[in-house]
Amino acid sequence: MSKVASGKIKKSSAKILDEFNASVMFDKELYLEDIEGSIAHVKMLLKQGIIDENAKTNIISGLNKIQKEIETDEYIFDIKDEDIHMSIENRLTTLIGDDAKRMHTARSRNDQVALDFRLFVLRKNAEIAQLLFGLEKVLLEIEKEHTDTLLPGMTHLQHAQPINFSYHLLAYSSMFKRDIQRFENSMKRNSISPIGCAALAGTPYQTDREYEAKLLGFSSVSINCLDTVSDRDFALEMLFNISVLVMHISRLSEEIILWSSSEFGFVELSDEYSTSSSIMPQKKNPDVPELLRGKTGRVYGNLISLLTVMKGLPLAYNKDMQEDKEGVFDSVKTACISIKILTEALKTMSIKKEAMLDATKKGHLSATDLADYLTSKCGYTFRDAYKLTGEIVGYADDKGKDMSELNLQELKKFEPKIKEDVIDILKLYNSMNARDSQGGTSVNSTKKQIEYFEEWLDKRG
Ligand code: ARG
Repeated sequence: MSKVASGKIKKSSAKILDEFNASVMFDKELYLEDIEGSIAHVKMLLKQGIIDENAKTNIISGLNKIQKEIETDEYIFDIKDEDIHMSIENRLTTLIGDDAKRMHTARSRNDQVALDFRLFVLRKNAEIAQLLFGLEKVLLEIEKEHTDTLLPGMTHLQHAQPINFSYHLLAYSSMFKRDIQRFENSMKRNSISPIGCAALAGTPYQTDREYEAKLLGFSSVSINCLDTVSDRDFALEMLFNISVLVMHISRLSEEIILWSSSEFGFVELSDEYSTSSSIMPQKKNPDVPELLRGKTGRVYGNLISLLTVMKGLPLAYNKDMQEDKEGVFDSVKTACISIKILTEALKTMSIKKEAMLDATKKGHLSATDLADYLTSKCGYTFRDAYKLTGEIVGYADDKGKDMSELNLQELKKFEPKIKEDVIDILKLYNSMNARDSQGGTSVNSTKKQIEYFEEWLDKRG
């Protein structure tokens, strides 16, 4: 509605106000949800005898035509219409005349926008979860290949204990599984229909909110109208869920960046997912994981921004809430492209087993195994064993060897009770394989974890 037509305001608005006030240039993203919402609404109005069959039919065929116009780029979005809701209603009026004016009976833009936005967010939850399943599948493919690929497991970015590469990636499979569950939980929990709440207080018309909710695929109807038109928790939840997701993506990206440096050399990104330097011809840059890591900034910003918008708002709707959408659109787009690009980059990345293996030979990764040996086989307390192992590490350093390369004679000088069997125990592969406790890195345990994810993915189709 151009503002001239409203009751209280007689003059048309300043052009700069139209620009400031309008949201249609971004909330047009919600056109489909808006049209679907209106179709459900007029079906309910007909069922309740509030409008007649003729009006319903005209409105629905007009809305279908508008959908086509938008999808074929014939539609003109004009900031004078303010937002997507008024834009579609005004266009409908042009197309079908007076019947269009019946569409807004027993609703307000406040419940309309709450409906459109919620539907959009619910659908995006499903889309993101689906993309994450694709990422999980690619991770699983790599994991199946690398249960024997040794690399240094780290704490504090220092070599700690040997693990296998699948085991390392399975940590990310676990994170992304939690992400999927978070999106799915939000989707289930927020499947609550806001439509029918009208401006803030409900409506005197004999509406059927249950029926309308069912038409739109919601599981239930909201309890309190005042809350419903004021509530953006579902959008905040989406922004939070995406924030956790991109934090996980960023951690993996950080590792890929490190791993593809000359210092590590554990992986090489494919040419399609790498970029070059404009000046240094020898360079292959990990721009993809760097951008993925960098995207966290805007995504966290979007979360903080909406939390801030919402924090002081009196009930019910306030125009501040129009600021809820762009951040969500941006975070959703960022999440989708990030998952897609990470999936492809992983699929095409080469894994340098030799470099990983070489790296395990630095840092005395089996030192804990020697301490455990002294404890279980030579009668030491763990603390004394820890101390003696420290001395042996110092000796190995002086000799320029890794502890796993010391021979029996060298070890016996420190403790005569040490026997031949220690040599096998200190081998890095055996050290990795010894950690067979549930959830540990042994090949056996790693394979169980792979099976777990395989079954989970199979079950989910
Ligand atoms: N464009 C508005 C928004 O996005 C729609 C709701 C407008 N409601 C109102 N009472 N002005 O929030």
